[in-house]
Amino acid sequence: MRILILNGPNLNLTGTREPKIYGHQTFDSFIKQLLKLFPKAEITYKQSNVEGELINILQAANDDFDGIVFNPAAYSHTSIALADTIRSLNIPVIEVHLSNIYARENYRKNSFTAEVCQASLSGFGMDGYRMAIDFLLKNP
Ligand code: DQA
Repeated sequence: MRILILNGPNLNLTGTREPKIYGHQTFDSFIKQLLKLFPKAEITYKQSNVEGELINILQAANDDFDGIVFNPAAYSHTSIALADTIRSLNIPVIEVHLSNIYARENYRKNSFTAEVCQASLSGFGMDGYRMAIDFLLKNP
């Protein structure tokens, strides 16, 4: 199964950015662990800080992947454009947030993108990505 892990804005700073909320681990080191954990899944990791680039990556992924694990970061709370893109896809998208968005500021409590994803995970830290991959592998 070909799985795309896609991260949105500022998640490239994970490890040093607000570590009390997002933890100390970098995605570089976490993705290496994931590849070892799921040797049979073909995992690709991408990150962009740019909304339009995320849209282009999602559109292209429809042909190249069997499932997507997506953390749209702050765009979750603002982007109807990204939600429309997710709606257009024929492959499952699982939304993941490192932090529990329901236990934070009110403006984080709504996710336009989670509404159109198959499922969402919030507050499990990086483990949420592992759980999402596990789900995709069990539900091809
Ligand atoms: C986040 C939560 C968002 O509210 C925030 O803007 C992020 C990260 C998370 O993974 O917890 O950048 O998506």
